[in-house]
Amino acid sequence: MASVETIVILDFGAQYNQLIARRVREANVYCRILPFDTTVDDVRALSPKGIILTGGPASVYAPGAPRADARLFDLGVPVLGICYGMQWGAFALGGGVRPAAGREYGRTCARIVSPSPLTEGLPAEFTVWMSHGDAVNELPADFLPLVATPSCPYAAMRHRSKPFYGVQFHPEVTHTQFGREIFHNFLYRVCGCRGDWKMEDFIEQSVAGIRNQVGPGRVVLGLSGGVDSSVLAVLCHRAVGDRVTCIFVDHGLNRKNEGARVRETFEKHFGVNLVYVDVEKDFLSKLAGVTDPEKKRKIIGAEFIETFKRAAKSIPGAHFLAQGTIYPDVIESTSAKGGPSAVIKSHHNVGGLPDELGFELVEPLRDLFKDEVRRVGERLGLPREIVWRQPFPGPGLAVRVLGEVTKERLDILREADAIVDEEVRAAGLYEKVWQSFTVLLPVSTVGVMGDERTYENVVAIRAVESEDAMTADWVRFPYDLLAKLSSRIINEVKGVNRVVYDISSKPPSTIEWE
Ligand code: XMP
Repeated sequence: MASVETIVILDFGAQYNQLIARRVREANVYCRILPFDTTVDDVRALSPKGIILTGGPASVYAPGAPRADARLFDLGVPVLGICYGMQWGAFALGGGVRPAAGREYGRTCARIVSPSPLTEGLPAEFTVWMSHGDAVNELPADFLPLVATPSCPYAAMRHRSKPFYGVQFHPEVTHTQFGREIFHNFLYRVCGCRGDWKMEDFIEQSVAGIRNQVGPGRVVLGLSGGVDSSVLAVLCHRAVGDRVTCIFVDHGLNRKNEGARVRETFEKHFGVNLVYVDVEKDFLSKLAGVTDPEKKRKIIGAEFIETFKRAAKSIPGAHFLAQGTIYPDVIESTSAKGGPSAVIKSHHNVGGLPDELGFELVEPLRDLFKDEVRRVGERLGLPREIVWRQPFPGPGLAVRVLGEVTKERLDILREADAIVDEEVRAAGLYEKVWQSFTVLLPVSTVGVMGDERTYENVVAIRAVESEDAMTADWVRFPYDLLAKLSSRIINEVKGVNRVVYDISSKPPSTIEWE
């Protein structure tokens, strides 16, 4: 990516930092998030067109508060400080910062007090979203106030001679009006970007990159049918054609018709080399009698790796392993806070495997956010159904059949799940929610069908809204939809006589039941 215009985002640990990166990229400018203490030489080495200092939870005066290297301001590169980033910049350049009288949190009205490239094209007044304890309270002679709010006279400011801008509010969140325009102004008017980060260019560059890395070699790829591995498969296929072999492990824990769909799309439509490994019986016999959720996960993880290893070894001459690592997987471990735990992906993490098998990793999606992966998928001609797929856990339906996992119970769940999938899509809600699925409970309840008493299974429906799966809220599905789901499941799925709807948020509940 060396030739692409780059913005460096120095991460002081705020919650919304990935959102800043998304806004920059939406404006067609590539950016990288780096820890706040990245050395000035490392920043310079990237030849950034601009630097953004993020917000963060600390107070500039607190002991141990994160501080970047003030020589950043001597690079001659424009800098935009957001919230803590502005306070640290003002502090480093000699301005005073003090705790605000009270924490300021929420929407407030901002007024432009002097025009600047940052606010060009904006109305005189607009709404901004604040979330801070400290504020810049003294503006040294070197600074010019740009925007004020009723309680914050320096809600935005600039240095008179250095290309440093600061905003106390958060332009990255949607509650701030014209936030996208503020980023656009910074990138195009202040930093002079041209906007060369486009998905078509990305595809061309990464196809060239894969060809270059792989040379005449062969590539192995674990295809799960999810968004990342699907996009990866088509991208690698475009780069090296027949020399990539995808491995699909059918462990019998997938949704209804999943294996057939994968074959249809990748083998038939794209002409990708596919090794289809049917290990349903092996997996189910390993899972027999196991009810503990973590035990299930461990068994599935270990079995999956073994199966994949065997299949990969059987492909002659393969030296490369393509992996669908995406940007959030990469930055989570380097953010100022340490970032959220990546444990949720442990099942898919085939770490150690490349070494063991003597493989070199190919990771062309490393620089992309999920929505960018989807855009690449669309451009590569993948069906919308795959590109906009909801997340699906690595251990599959095994963590949705509560208690012991058997073929019979998996089949019941698959049928109920397919109905929910179909109806949620038909209601136009599938892409609006984070996940919508069913869970088979390990209890039987009494019902009545015709004149007969029944004693059968309960299915729970779970649908959540979420930004990142760290927190989630249950979706307020229309009653009509819930009624349809319930009656269809009870009428059509043999062995179910009761349907319930999960109305728990995360935290304290989790998204999956196990
Ligand atoms: P929880 O249940 O922890 O789920 O709120 C958060 C997100 O992670 C998914 N999930 C998993 N993904 N392996 C995975 O690859 C797992 O073992 C696993 N458990 C949960 C879940 O579907 C949700 O999107």
